[in-house]
Amino acid sequence: MAGLDKNIWIIANWKSNKTISEALDWVSQVGPKVPKKDNLKIVVCPTFSSLSEVKKAITVGNFPILLGAQDLSPFGAGAYTGEESAGLLNQLVELAILGHSERRKDFGETDEMVAEKTQQALGNNITPLVCIQGEETPMPEGCQMVAYEPTWAISTGLTNTPGAGKADTPEGANKMASLLKQKYGSNLKVIYGGSVTASNVKGFVIEENINGVLVGNASLDVEEFIEICKLASQ
Ligand code: PGA
Repeated sequence: MAGLDKNIWIIANWKSNKTISEALDWVSQVGPKVPKKDNLKIVVCPTFSSLSEVKKAITVGNFPILLGAQDLSPFGAGAYTGEESAGLLNQLVELAILGHSERRKDFGETDEMVAEKTQQALGNNITPLVCIQGEETPMPEGCQMVAYEPTWAISTGLTNTPGAGKADTPEGANKMASLLKQKYGSNLKVIYGGSVTASNVKGFVIEENINGVLVGNASLDVEEFIEICKLASQ
């Protein structure tokens, strides 16, 4: 594992999926089966509507899973209809995915907004996980953890025949991670995301500069996600 952080991060991004009862079902099945290891950091990022119930279920079950949000407001609390501010979310989550390419593409999120969101997260004890699409994406000030997610690699994993996903290669992702660490410092944690499944996760996490994986589609499936966690922790 790379840099000073010896942890392996497995971060589940559910996107706009799962009802509350589906979310609780997932927690009750995944929670008891994932490895409990100090250096394995498993984070689940449900929709806002499930956060509170998922938090309770994780706490009651004493499962080794942290909670994250998929976004947060670029503003503080106040008259911002529809927004979830970091000062409210920090009662529930420890991490927030920011600047995902789907938010940039479908919701017009700009680099400036991502920078504001990062400041909101940092000021409210939430770890920002900033998604970058390549070396050219600007790095918000204070950011210590990025997800390198090439847009062409997203959501091809489980929808195609096994092995046919268009994930980046571990070598390609490691090269990008190494470049980012040279540019922003070796303390930067670099997570790879884009069509990660149980069949390719091991290749990514053994790379020297990769600190973990961000898993979309494959995290929705209980057995697949448990397998990903087990393989990554070996
Ligand atoms: P995917 O999504 O694993 O389905 O490719 C990853 C992401 O978009 O974070």
